[in-house]
This record gives sequence, C-alpha cells and structure tokens, in this order.
Amino acid sequence: MTTPNNKLKIAVIGGDGTGPEVVDEAVKVLKAVGQLEKIEMQFDYFAIGGDRYLKTGKTVTDEEITQLRGYSSILLGAIGHPDVAPGILEKAILLRLRFEFDQYINLRPVKLFPGVETPLKDKKPEDIDFVVVRENTEDLYTGIGGCMKKGTPDEVATQTAVYTRKGTERCIRWAFEYTRKRNNPKGKMLTLVAKTNVLTFGHDLWQRTFQEIAHEFPDVKTDYNNVDACCMWMVKNPEYYDVIVTTNMFGDIITDLAGMLQGGMGVAAGGNINPEPNGCSMYEPMGGSAPKYTGKNVINPIAAVSAAALLLEQEGYTLAAQRIIKSIMFITGHKMKSQAAGKMGYGTREIGDLLCENL
Ligand code: IPM
Ligand code: MN
Repeated sequence: MTTPNNKLKIAVIGGDGTGPEVVDEAVKVLKAVGQLEKIEMQFDYFAIGGDRYLKTGKTVTDEEITQLRGYSSILLGAIGHPDVAPGILEKAILLRLRFEFDQYINLRPVKLFPGVETPLKDKKPEDIDFVVVRENTEDLYTGIGGCMKKGTPDEVATQTAVYTRKGTERCIRWAFEYTRKRNNPKGKMLTLVAKTNVLTFGHDLWQRTFQEIAHEFPDVKTDYNNVDACCMWMVKNPEYYDVIVTTNMFGDIITDLAGMLQGGMGVAAGGNINPEPNGCSMYEPMGGSAPKYTGKNVINPIAAVSAAALLLEQEGYTLAAQRIIKSIMFITGHKMKSQAAGKMGYGTREIGDLLCENL
C-alpha cells in the first residue's frame, strides 16, 4: 500500500461493450470525491480493447506497457468482444497486464449493500461482509503445459499448477496484514482455502507457509477450509468469514459464487494489486462487457464505482473511499429498485449523479 502522494495518476481503460459507460461514472464519482477530499487526480485514457484489436490486430503494445508502468492505478471497464474468439483478449490484455505488472493480489470484497437482493434466504447485509484475497500470478494461470497427438484418440494434454515459495509467502503475508488492518469488530480471522487432502505438494506448501506466517500475527485467528467445503459454508453461513486467502484458480471460482451472494455482477468489484511502493495496480468491475446493453444507459455502474473506492482505499485515501461506499449504500438502500440492467429505476448516468450528490 502506498501513502497519499500529491497527485493520483490514473490510467483509464474503458475497454469493450458497456465498459466505457460504467467507467465514465466511476471517473465522475472519483472527480467529485477528489474535490471534497482535496485529492488531485489526473486521468489518461487508453484505447485498449476488442474494437481496436479487430481494426488493427493490436491488443496491448509494448509501448503501452511502458507508459502504464508510470501509473499507480489503472481503472478498467470490461474486456470481451462478441466478434473475438473467447480467450484471446482475456489472455493478451487482462492476464498480460496482471503478469507484466506483477499484480500478485486479487482483492475481492464481498459485501451485501442495503436494499440489494441476495439469493440466500434470510441473510442480511450484516451476514454477508467478507473479503477474498486471491493469489493472482501463479497456479494454473502460468500457461505452463502442452499437448501431443492433438486431435487423435491418443491425445495427451498437461496443464501445470505452479506454486513458488516466494509467490505463496507474499500473498499470505499480505492477507494477514490486510486482516489485521480490516480489524473486524466480530474478530479478526483469516481462513486458508485450498485442497490439501488431494493437492499434497502444492497446497502442502501453501499450508506450511500459512502456519509459519501465522506466528507473526498472534492477533489474527486462523482457520482452514477445503475449497469444496468452503462453497458449502459460504452459502450456508457466510457470516462465518472475515478474510479468505486462496490460490488463483480456486479464488477465481469461489469469487463468482461470492459475487452472486452479494447481488451479482452489477455490484461485485475487484482489485489486481501490486503492493510494492512503485507498483501499478488495476481495478475492475467483475461483470463482463454486456454487449447487448451497450450505449443504452441501462447498465449498472455500482461495481465500477466500488472498484474506484477500492482504488482510493489501496492508495491510502481511506476517508474518500468510505465516502463512496457510504454513498453507494445510501443509493442501493433508498433509491435503486434493482441491481439488474434496465430495472434500476434510473439510468446509468443518473445513478452516477446520485452517487456524486450523496458523497
Ligand atoms: C476473473 C476472470 C478472469 C480470470 C478471466 C477473464 C481470464 O474470470 O477476473 O475472475 O480467470 O481470472
Ligand atoms: Mn473469474
């Protein structure tokens, strides 16, 4: 985490579909809170996305990587285009940025805002309020593997899960520090989610590292869940969790489950964080590019605005971040009819205006 500096330089990648629309509202809210909290901000726009790829064949250029390195934060809308085969843009843009900037923490707060519907019967905002810390650079995401005899009955394919001591340790230590800082009044607890009963090498490394680092944080209670059991508990007793730390692939899966518990992709946001002093981090709403809603002023900007709050929190502007979250809670609790696109009772831009007015 960096301390507040004089100017916050933010690179904006609207991306595809409704990405630019939701990012516009996030920028609007950032500017408004910046005025109130006297934070000087600079926004620079990058045309990265599926449209440019279709026109020019470019995903992210080396020059853009160099430029982006000069920013503490990137605000990303959405990547994904109906005319581009799945996997290309995700790998060449989203995953490339995560790896190039060594954004080794994927931070996903799971908070049920007031007035937001959860599919869990009888669960209230105070029951669904936890955070998932997902490792973001290793595991099955390194792209190590291969195949032989492709397309034949004898085909063999491997996809290797890679875990390093360094990668595991830095993620777990950050998760402990985060749990301490979050300081949950119900008690600080970090739960390791893995699959040590089957992944007896890689997840044994995770478990041993977790136990070692736990000694440095005697104030944080620890627990362990197998990932399958975690899915069960998350639905049955979400109030049990404070902070979860987990591997990249499992983190990907359980945060989609968690995202639904907090009201769906219109509200869920995440940060891809490089916590080093000059690190470049990237914040994004978890929903996709929703092509069918593009340009209609109907998409929900709450997730993108939450991503902006996460950005401010990680940059050390805690009060500004809290102002945004409080405004979101007021708007979801008192104004919005639904979190679904087209059913909010307001347009995308009107939600943005309401959020600014209630900071
Ligand atoms: C996510 C997404 C990505 C991931 C995809 C788009 C590569 O699902 O951010 O969770 O798997 O990490
Ligand atoms: Mn995912």
